[in-house]
Amino acid sequence: MKLLFYGLIPIVLYTTFNYLFHTWLPTNYRFDKVVLQNLVQDVLKDHPDGNATAIMIDLAPKIKQEYPDLVNDLNFDEWFYNNAGGAMGQMTILHASISEYLIFFGTAVGTEGHTGVHFADDYFTILSGEQRAAYPGSLEPEVYKPGDQHHLPKGHVKQYAMPGGSFALELAQGWIPAMLPFGLLDTLSSTLDFYTFYLTSYYTARDMIRNLLNGKF
Ligand SMILES: *[C@@H]1O[C@H](CO)[C@@H](O)[C@H](O)[C@H]1NC(C)=O
Repeated sequence: MKLLFYGLIPIVLYTTFNYLFHTWLPTNYRFDKVVLQNLVQDVLKDHPDGNATAIMIDLAPKIKQEYPDLVNDLNFDEWFYNNAGGAMGQMTILHASISEYLIFFGTAVGTEGHTGVHFADDYFTILSGEQRAAYPGSLEPEVYKPGDQHHLPKGHVKQYAMPGGSFALELAQGWIPAMLPFGLLDTLSSTLDFYTFYLTSYYTARDMIRNLLNGKF
C-alpha cells in the first residue's frame, strides 16, 4: 500500500506539470518565436559574410528594444561552456525565468550530440554556420541554415551537429528548471569543470530570481 502510494507520486507530479504546460504555463510566455526569427532575418541581411560576432552585436540591442524589461545586454565576459548530451558548446544568457530562456548558443570548433529530452518547446534560430538534426530512422539530416528556425517540440529527441563557427539564438518555453539537470550533470559526471558549473548556476539563478522579483514567472 505504501509502495503504491510512493509509486503514484511521480505520476501525479508529471500529470500536474504536463497539464499546466498545456494550460497555465503559456500565459507566462512573453517572447514570440516569430518576432525573434524576423529580427534575426532582418539583421542577417546586413551580414552576408556570416560574421557571428557582428551579427550578435547588431541583434542583441534589437531584441532588447523589443523586450526592454526582459533582456540582458550582450556581454562577451558572460560566456561560458555548456556540456550536455555529449555535445559541447558555449553560451550566454539573454533571459532566464521559470518558463522561458533566451540564449546565444554555439560553437567555434564544432560539436555533435543528443538534444536532450525537454519539458519545453525549443526554437533554435541559426545566426551563422548551420545545424543538422535527425530522428532515428531518418537517414538524411534536416539542415538548418542562417535565418532558419529549428523547432524541437517538447519531449522530442534528435541527434544534432553544428560545424565550427555555428551560432544560434535559442528560445525555450516550458518548465525551464526541468531542463537544468541535462545542462549541468555532464559537468558533475564527466568534465568536473566546477567553475563552469558555478557560472551556469550563478547566471541562471541571477536571472531567474531577478525576473521573479519583477513578476516574470
Ligand atoms: C567580425 O566582427 C567583429 C565585430 O564587428 C570584428 O571585430 C571582427 O574583426 C570580424 N571578423 C572578421 C573575420 O571579419
